[in-house]
Amino acid sequence: MFDSLSPQPQDPLLALIGLYNSDTRTDKVDLGVGVFRDETGHTPVMRAVKAAERVLLDTQDSKSYVAPEGDRVFIDLLWTVVGGTDCGKAVAGVQAPGGSGALRLAADLLAKAGKTRVWVGVPTWANHLGIFGSAGLSVQTYPYFDVPSQAVQFDRMTAALESAEAGDAVLLHASCHNPTGAQLTAAQWAVVAEIVARKGLIPLIDSAYQGFGAGLEEDAAGLRTVIAAAAESLVAVSCSKFFGLYRERTGAVYAVGGSQSAVETARSNLVTIARTSYSMPPDHGSAVVRTILATPELKADWIAELNDMRGRLISLRQGLATAIGNHWAGSTAVAGQQGMFSLLPMKEADILALRKDHGIYMPTSGRINIAGLKQADVARVAATFVPLLG
Ligand code: LMR
Repeated sequence: MFDSLSPQPQDPLLALIGLYNSDTRTDKVDLGVGVFRDETGHTPVMRAVKAAERVLLDTQDSKSYVAPEGDRVFIDLLWTVVGGTDCGKAVAGVQAPGGSGALRLAADLLAKAGKTRVWVGVPTWANHLGIFGSAGLSVQTYPYFDVPSQAVQFDRMTAALESAEAGDAVLLHASCHNPTGAQLTAAQWAVVAEIVARKGLIPLIDSAYQGFGAGLEEDAAGLRTVIAAAAESLVAVSCSKFFGLYRERTGAVYAVGGSQSAVETARSNLVTIARTSYSMPPDHGSAVVRTILATPELKADWIAELNDMRGRLISLRQGLATAIGNHWAGSTAVAGQQGMFSLLPMKEADILALRKDHGIYMPTSGRINIAGLKQADVARVAATFVPLLG
């Protein structure tokens, strides 16, 4: 049987990690996978995470199963960060193995409810397409971002959404759009919210980078505008980035809107989907997040460190944009984008040459992870980019 299978290519973004690691040059630069890095190129364990782990080491007295839906305290506390303390809607969540796990549960729930289509912006995180396709949903696309002009294509986006049908799902990035870093304004979020409400669309909001854009509250504002307007929404939350818990696979999916009994029914279906996929989510990361959010001093320190991480990203982004300066008209837009990513208009051959000739690693899409820069690299990287942009 195994012979009948054809070998599958490695995910290009994950393959880039191995390529970078095997490069022996000491001045290599990793602008690939979306993880936060400090000035030494290290992805640190956040202070509050370490402190919470110490608490758990001392106090956790069992490794028996948690509830089928996961840790309810974690689920509820995480929602207060994402949805706010009172979003005015019925909410029921299920813990998930990371943001991808949350998205897959949401996609499977849509399919189970008989929904067949999900609208996805172009471009988007490549794995969105894989996850929705694997769940059996048909992916429709709406224009989101024009790479050469570095502009959100808002009129084209809304025109496409106007052609969606009631019951279609619409994927939206809550903040720090992956891969473009280009955000909707508050006024644009309000227009999207009005369209999804009027047309009976189901927003599926991917929240993976809260706190890396303008601030913890600010980055949730668009999401909150949409869920307030929509009859029903799904929200997939990743704790990989804003708690730095990547390998702990920590996240949650929330059914929002309708009656409390309706979201509880959605929750029971999410639990059933999880049970037949992986039974129950891992506990460690959620126990860490629960401990941080339930302990005021740890929560304050987590927010303080997250603010510093955002400050580092902003400083690097502005440094890169300034160094590119007038050599490329898009540099001003890059300076104003948010989060880890920008998407640059570069040719695949040039990106491969950057790897070979300069040890600068980025996916062939042209996405860069700003956090992979060191301050000392900015001028050199900008100088290699300038002849390739345009
Ligand atoms: C990324 O976009 O680089 C991250 O979300 C990591 C991943 O799993 O793709």
